[in-house]
Amino acid sequence: MMDPEVLTERAAQLIAQTATLGELHAVQVELLGKNSALAVARHSVGRLDEAERPEAGRRLLEVREEIERLLAQRRAVLEEDQRRCRLSGDRLDLTEVALASQRGRLHLVQRTRDELEDVFVGMGFVVAEGPEVETDWYNFEALNMPVAHPARGMWDTLYLDLGEEETVLLRTHTSPVQIRLMQDQVPPIYAVMPGRCYRRDTPDARHIPVFHQLEGLVVDHGISFADLAGTIETFTTAYFGSDTHSRLRPSYFPFTEPSAEFEVTCSICKGKGCRTCSHTGWVELGGCGMVDPEVFVAVGVDPEEWTGFAFGFGIDRLAQMRHVIPDMRILLDNDVRFLRQL
Ligand code: PHE
Repeated sequence: MMDPEVLTERAAQLIAQTATLGELHAVQVELLGKNSALAVARHSVGRLDEAERPEAGRRLLEVREEIERLLAQRRAVLEEDQRRCRLSGDRLDLTEVALASQRGRLHLVQRTRDELEDVFVGMGFVVAEGPEVETDWYNFEALNMPVAHPARGMWDTLYLDLGEEETVLLRTHTSPVQIRLMQDQVPPIYAVMPGRCYRRDTPDARHIPVFHQLEGLVVDHGISFADLAGTIETFTTAYFGSDTHSRLRPSYFPFTEPSAEFEVTCSICKGKGCRTCSHTGWVELGGCGMVDPEVFVAVGVDPEEWTGFAFGFGIDRLAQMRHVIPDMRILLDNDVRFLRQL
C-alpha cells in the first residue's frame, strides 16, 4: 500500500498547481475518485491482517480529510480570484469619461424658441400654448375665414380622418391660440404663442412640412399700428442685434386689417444687397396687422372698446437666417455633426 504521507504530499502538489476552478475539479476526481490511488489503497486494507486494518483505515481516512481540506482551501482562493477578475472587468472609472465632449445639447430650434421667449417676456409678454390638433373653426372660421373662403388656400392643410370630413386638422399656424386666449381671458392681453405647425408642403431649402411659429397678440385700449411697428422693431434689434432693423410692407391676411409683411435687414450682407435678399437688403420674416373686428366678434370681445395687433413668423426660418443655414431640411436630419456644432 502506498505511504499515506506520500499520497498527501502528491495531492498537495497537484492542488497547488491548479489555476482555475475547472482544473481543480479535474484534480479532485483524480485524487478522490473511484480510480484514485486513495481508492486503490482503501481496497487493499481488506487484504491486511485483521489487527492492522483499523489503524490502516484510520490513516487513510485522515489522508482523505486532509485532501478535502486542501481542496476547499484552494477552491476558496480560486473563487476569490475569479470574482476579482469579473469585478475589474465591470469596473467603470467615471473620471475617465470625457464629460465635456459627450454633453448633449438642445436643438437649434428649441434654443431659438427659448431665446425668443426670453426677449418677449422681457418686453412684458406672457407665453401661451395650445393644441396642435385643431378644429376647422379655430384654425380658419374664427379667424374670419368661413368655409370655402378663398384665403384658406394660403395654407396647405393636413386634415385628420376624424369626425365629419375636413373638420379636424393639424394646425397650419399658431393663430388658433389667439382665439383660445381671447375666449379664456378678458383683455388686456399681451401674449406670445410659440409652437409646432404643419403644412402639406414639399420639403425644400426654405420649407419643411413640420415647422415652428411664434405668434404675438396684444389687445388693449387704444392700441395702434404704431405700437405694432414699435414692438417689431424692438424685438428685431433685441434678437438680431442693433445693426438689424425692420420694415413693414402692405399685405393681406383675413384676420388682420390692415395687414403687413415685416422684413428685417438681410443677415448675410447686413443690408447692402446680395443674392440671398435679391439685392434688396431685406428679408421677409413674417406677417402682422391690426386684429380684424370680425375676429373680435367671433370670440365675444367688443371691437368698439378694444383694439389689438397680431404678428407671426417661423422660428425655423429665423434660426436659418441668424445662423446662415443654406438648407432648412438639415434641421430635421438629426445629423449629429450638424447638431454638435451649434
Ligand atoms: N398666421 C399667419 C401665417 O401663418 C401669420 C400672421 C400672424 C399674420 C398674425 C398676421 C398676424 O402666415
